[in-house]
Amino acid sequence: MKAVVIAIDGPAASGKGTLARRVSDRLGFAHLDTGALYRAVGLLTARRGGDPADPAAAEAAARALDAQQLAELMKDPELRGDWAAQAASQVGAVPGVRAALMDFQRGFAARPPGGGAGAVLDGRDIGTVVCPDAPAKLFVTAAVDVRARRRFNELLARGVPAIYDAVLADMKERDARDSQRAVAPLRPAVDAFLLDTSSLDADAAFEAALSFIRSKTGLPA
Ligand code: DC
Repeated sequence: MKAVVIAIDGPAASGKGTLARRVSDRLGFAHLDTGALYRAVGLLTARRGGDPADPAAAEAAARALDAQQLAELMKDPELRGDWAAQAASQVGAVPGVRAALMDFQRGFAARPPGGGAGAVLDGRDIGTVVCPDAPAKLFVTAAVDVRARRRFNELLARGVPAIYDAVLADMKERDARDSQRAVAPLRPAVDAFLLDTSSLDADAAFEAALSFIRSKTGLPA
């Protein structure tokens, strides 16, 4: 039977990652955080001695990334840091990097690991480019100052020193790069459900997402 794909896109700190995890747990679906793939390519580019802002170095790293390296980078604490986020956004603007990661993402969606009935993929271009036929697409967003505040509080909670204005500037820079790039820019699919979490908590966002998914897929959520 064809796997049911749920596409969840949106900018940084919109709440899409938390939402994707909760939806996949509830439905018993596999979950792929595609941002982690771009972060892994960013880190690998630097570890091979390259600059993530150099398209040729980024593409070479993406083509060299194998399953074992990916599994190791996924466990690396640096993967979650802000340096890796900016590097991911830089390598994500390179068409050859996006092409190199495409088969992995589509394979995951078509044959979810663990043999589940479906997959939840979260990222920037899942509903528009990677899985345009997904039956349920969500675009999760929030005002940039709300997202920066969330990110800032998260850093402080982890004991990482942070300055709010710097977090906000970083987020604006990443939003601009992700949404203005020529290839697969961040934007809602025409048939995406827009979920603004500026004034919603995680539970309310989850309930709204589930009722949309149920209406599109007929799944008992
Ligand atoms: O979701 P995240 O913050 O971990 O993503 C990090 C960066 O990776 C993001 O700023 C842009 C890039 N990315 C992308 O270009 N396409 C995706 N599907 C996911 C992430």
